[in-house]
Amino acid sequence: MHSITLAIWVINLIRFCISTPLVPDVSEPKATMRFCGMLGGHKVNLTGTIEDIYAQAKLLHPDIDIESQILLNAETYESSESNTKRTENKPGLCNHLIGHPWNAADVNQLKQGMDQLRLPDAKCEVKGQTCTEVSCVGMAEIVLCSEKDDPMTIPCSTIADYVGDIIEQCTVHPNGVTVASGQMFDTDGWNVVAKRFPGKGRKHQKC
Ligand SMILES: *[C@@H]1O[C@H](CO)[C@@H](O)[C@H](O)[C@H]1NC(C)=O
Repeated sequence: MHSITLAIWVINLIRFCISTPLVPDVSEPKATMRFCGMLGGHKVNLTGTIEDIYAQAKLLHPDIDIESQILLNAETYESSESNTKRTENKPGLCNHLIGHPWNAADVNQLKQGMDQLRLPDAKCEVKGQTCTEVSCVGMAEIVLCSEKDDPMTIPCSTIADYVGDIIEQCTVHPNGVTVASGQMFDTDGWNVVAKRFPGKGRKHQKC
């Protein structure tokens, strides 16, 4: 009797350990991002997803034109040649090649998140050992995870670059839709995940 109880206890312990991720859990990002940088000609230092940041900045500075800023982001990005320091650990992990830990996200929605992150002079800060939702457009979520103990400050545009690489490597076309999901690692102890927001039920169409 005792040995059976012990065996069950050991099996449960092993199951618990296996199901506990070694890197910060990306399924439910807990921490809040801090944004620090220039937005629409204003110095901004706020917390939230990049969508929250634009909305809060607009409230603080009504002259900010969000659409123009996002267009400018794309133009500035296209005219600059690899402006950010990149120490990407290629290739990343594609969702469909690692057993579908996530659902794939709409590529167009991911790109909208990227366009917002491509502010030329902006840093995205995350706490150590956590995952943070950086962007969520429609049902497409971009998550930044830190594997280090101390907070990290990363150019927001670099996060967008990594999502671009996930799209490049991991795009699939099930049932004629274009979706992507995956994880891209930096050698400096952080990584980016692009996936569908894990909303419950079919009615959940927005983050
Ligand atoms: C941003 O705000 C936080 C909290 O108020 C503060 O600790 C931090 O020093 C600020 N960063 C900059 C660069 O001003």
